[in-house]
Amino acid sequence: MKFDKLLHGGDYFPEQWLDHPEVIEEDIHLLKETKSNAVSIGMFAWSALEPQENNYEFEWLDKIMDLMAENNIKVMLASPSGAKPAWMSANHPEVLRTNSLGQKMHHGGRHNHCISSPYYRKKIKEMNRKLAERYKDHPALYMWHVSNEYEGECHCDLCQQEFRGWLKNKYKNDLDKLNDAWWSRFWSHRYSDWSQIESPSLLGVQDLHGLNLDWKRFVTDQTLSFYRDEMEPLKEITPNIPRFTNFQSENPGLFIFKELDYSKFAADIDVIAWNAYPEWHNDQEETYELASKVAFSNDYLKSLKQQPFLITESTPSLVNWREVNKAKRPGMHLLSSMQMLAHGSNSNLYFQIRKSRGGSEKFHGAIIDHDRSTDNRVFQDVKELGTIMDKISPEVVDTNRYADVGILFDVENAWALQDAKGYGLETKKYDETVMEHYQTFWEKNIAVDVITTNNQFENYKLLVIPMLYMMDDEMIERIAHYVKEGGRVVSSYISGIVDSNDLVNVGGWPEKLQKVFGINILETDTLYPTDRNAVSYGDNEYEVFDYATIIEKNTAKSLGNYLDDFYKNETAITENDYGKGMSYYIAARMEHKFQQDFYSHLINKLHLKAILDVDHDLGVSIQGRINKETNQEVIFIMNFTEKDQMIDINETVEDLLTGEMISGEVSLEKYEVLIVKK
Ligand code: GAL
Repeated sequence: MKFDKLLHGGDYFPEQWLDHPEVIEEDIHLLKETKSNAVSIGMFAWSALEPQENNYEFEWLDKIMDLMAENNIKVMLASPSGAKPAWMSANHPEVLRTNSLGQKMHHGGRHNHCISSPYYRKKIKEMNRKLAERYKDHPALYMWHVSNEYEGECHCDLCQQEFRGWLKNKYKNDLDKLNDAWWSRFWSHRYSDWSQIESPSLLGVQDLHGLNLDWKRFVTDQTLSFYRDEMEPLKEITPNIPRFTNFQSENPGLFIFKELDYSKFAADIDVIAWNAYPEWHNDQEETYELASKVAFSNDYLKSLKQQPFLITESTPSLVNWREVNKAKRPGMHLLSSMQMLAHGSNSNLYFQIRKSRGGSEKFHGAIIDHDRSTDNRVFQDVKELGTIMDKISPEVVDTNRYADVGILFDVENAWALQDAKGYGLETKKYDETVMEHYQTFWEKNIAVDVITTNNQFENYKLLVIPMLYMMDDEMIERIAHYVKEGGRVVSSYISGIVDSNDLVNVGGWPEKLQKVFGINILETDTLYPTDRNAVSYGDNEYEVFDYATIIEKNTAKSLGNYLDDFYKNETAITENDYGKGMSYYIAARMEHKFQQDFYSHLINKLHLKAILDVDHDLGVSIQGRINKETNQEVIFIMNFTEKDQMIDINETVEDLLTGEMISGEVSLEKYEVLIVKK
């Protein structure tokens, strides 16, 4: 999708203030003052739009839409499926969700509907049809914000039936195929009739990993089919209005939500949108460490469609749902919002425009606080950001990010690894491991695409696939092809262990992988948290912890050996020529310094370059976007530390805000960000 402007604004709930027209007027005025140009409306407004079954009230929304159009504020109109009205639960209890213990939930909360319910699907389609018909030509309608943060699963009878249907389709009506794929002779789990299959439950089957995986895949597919149902009337009536559903993020961690595999939605979504709530100023990590995780998730979201994405929610200050809800310190709002743009976002939108008076989100950050004051510090921060976004919008809006390095992060692999009873229960740490590999590139300002199995590999000079425990033949073939044609791949311990049914590859490591990497895997040693080994690499030694795989070296060359234990002197890092390319295998989990040195070597060898040549210390990040037509770059120089940083810019750049030319030594204040072009 093409944007004409960077978007600033956020979630707006006028339905909470319908008895206070003066508040709504004030909202419009304050939105304009903060240079806000976009709002999302209607996410949770079902009971305002349909107060009684089949009794619709759109007049209030008509007024809001008109007001927005008069004031040049774009509307991302939401379908209200995120929360259902009480009459619906009372009249049609089939819409209520059932948990994995078989308990039917009561009415309340949100995202608590059964995703299979025919009534719920029919009703939301009707609602969306009415919205589309009513507003299809409205000048304020900009995009469809379909639902809000799809999540969760339902285990009711209907969903069980749907699951069985999904399985019959997957296994071509052949129950033996399913039994084989799930290895169901284990503990006498063999099914003799489809009707015996139930979703995984604490009260039932938990230990068939194939079942667990297929259930998660089904839940993703069922949610996607719900999304498609929601979209149907929107697509039909307003084919030219782009549609998205906003993804939620996991907190704390890498922000990539793993209850659903959102990557499966990418093809059906016109623009990727995610809700970002990093815990700035927390007491467990340095600011730059958190910043690198935010960068990672942005690079994942961008790579889902290889297009700019939207930040649909963030907070201008604090949230309300953490144990401790700390305010953003001065400077952080601008810095953290610029980071989103730097990594490919075309917006900074907030939850929420105005703090509500009641309900559980009344203390969540907003543009407009309870004091309604424009002198409010947060309001001023938002205004500053809006003004800057407005100024740089023409330079940024048509640009995108491009990377020579692809790092694979696969949600299905995360599910399978998490389920694996083996290795260390607490130390598998897939997310952290992928992040560990990403970190070095971030520290050196080398752009990375965090990719999924849906992405092509061919465009990358370097492909990093850490801990890809689950690899099917197709993936192995793709890796082999990529290297054969000249690509460079890095793999690690606990890769290529099971196929896509979570069945272990027997007869040694898959033959093709053995050829590509020039090694075979013998065994993997899992260490206690206090155990340490070491590996030599170059002139240095690096600490080993958690995992040490013992390998047999065939055609590969050793780049480093274990220094201790019964595998002392065995190979721990390898390099292998394969076709026109080269592959590397890192057999042990090692301290960060190893990744830094190892990847520095590859970065030099492959001539990978940062977007701007700057010398700086840890904690400064330089990221950028390029307009492919004009080759014009926009570069963000960001200080994610609590101290002033002296940096040395080895090129000449123009400050986009002041017009000043800059080169050489520059001092960046705590949390300062410079936006420049060459
Ligand atoms: C999001 C949600 C919003 C709001 C916000 C608060 O997950 O989509 O509606 O609840 O959290 O941080």
